[in-house]
Amino acid sequence: MAKKEDLIVGLDIGTTKICVIVAAPTNGGIDIVGIGTHPSRGLRKGVVVDIDATVDSIKHAVEEAELMADCEISSVYAGIAGSHIRAFNSHGVVAVKDREVSPSDVKRVIDAAKAVSIPMDREVIHVIPQEFIIDDQDGIREPLGMSGVRLEAKIHIVTAAVTSAQNIVKCANKAGLNVMDIVLEPLASAEACLAEDERDLGVCLIDIGGGTTDVAVYAEGSIKHTSVLGLGGAHVSNDIAVGLRTPFDEAERVKKKFGVAAARFLGGDDVISVPSVGGRRPREVSRKLLCEIIEPRIDEILTLARQSLAKEGLEDRIPSGVVLTGGCSALDGVADLAEEIFETPVRHGIPSRVGGLQDVVRGPMYATGVGLVLFGASQDRENTRFRIRDDSIFGRVKQRMRDWFFQFE
Ligand SMILES: Nc1ncnc2c1ncn2[C@@H]1O[C@H](COP(=O)(O)OP(=O)(O)OP(=O)(O)O)[C@@H](O)[C@H]1O
Ligand SMILES: [Mg+2]
Repeated sequence: MAKKEDLIVGLDIGTTKICVIVAAPTNGGIDIVGIGTHPSRGLRKGVVVDIDATVDSIKHAVEEAELMADCEISSVYAGIAGSHIRAFNSHGVVAVKDREVSPSDVKRVIDAAKAVSIPMDREVIHVIPQEFIIDDQDGIREPLGMSGVRLEAKIHIVTAAVTSAQNIVKCANKAGLNVMDIVLEPLASAEACLAEDERDLGVCLIDIGGGTTDVAVYAEGSIKHTSVLGLGGAHVSNDIAVGLRTPFDEAERVKKKFGVAAARFLGGDDVISVPSVGGRRPREVSRKLLCEIIEPRIDEILTLARQSLAKEGLEDRIPSGVVLTGGCSALDGVADLAEEIFETPVRHGIPSRVGGLQDVVRGPMYATGVGLVLFGASQDRENTRFRIRDDSIFGRVKQRMRDWFFQFE
């Protein structure tokens, strides 16, 4: 097996599947060269709850990807999600030292904006500059070298529960992998699915996965809002399993085959056969009933996503509309229901902007994985201006532990 140092690997630890995507950087972008997926058994609502089961799934997915890409995987960009994620905007101001903005001024203003109190049990995952303001000129994306006396920065800070972030690193390490960086899943999915002009005009990305629904809003080319809801397609399947008294796996199957997001989108009505539990005989149920079970849950997920926008006053700032991705967005009629709820155009987002084996990743469930390698590629090219990351998770955690010891000495 060849060891190819320059390959970029994304590890999407999802609630229903673990997905490993291997990409090779090219002149203009990246080529997908391998993919491995394995069902995920150790997560709940996007958070690791069983380390051994997760490590096992990661190993299987990595093996598959290694075989396909003919390489040995040693380090990955890992995704993080879950309802423990909190994100907020912050603001900092400094005086420009020599009347011309230097890298140290930019660092100082970001440090000033970052100076908010973060509880001990939370870790900063991302610090993303949204825009800079020099004197009264706003909307500046690249302040370096500009003249002025006062420099302001608006930034988006994402924090996660330290334990959840550590568990992701722990699982990857136990599976023999180094974690280069932890990336918020909605940011990764947005990287894979959104076009530049959509981000400039204003757009909302919703990734409906198995256990979480990730929301990211972009306007004026930069991130304005991110949130993670602890609801997804697995809840829909669970409702079906309970409502139709059928095993969970059968509920998954009928959902994918016959499910529609709302009963009113059904043309006619057919009868479907649904296996029962406990060895009882299969039952015939109407497809309309199935859709009546699905609708309230999808409605709840999309309504909560809309409310998270409304809370930030962003409902009117997405003229490009909504982009739906994630496995559950493949459900028939989801886009129509989303159009009704958001009262704006909705399109399906599938990973684009990549070459190579692009056909194998052209599914909404691969948006996060592809986004992770795109994120990795932008890091590799030292294009880190807009993605200033905090110190490594473990570095900071170690420092905190040292601080505790000093306190007790
Ligand atoms: N054709 C389909 N129709 C309806 N639902 C589908 C279809 N294909 C996949 N799904 C659903 O998508 C969900 C899985 O999506 P995805 O792979 O994006 O989740 P995940 O990344 O594992 O989880 P998460 O991101 O929430 O941690 C499952 O609930 C599955 O039932
Ligand atoms: Mg996912």
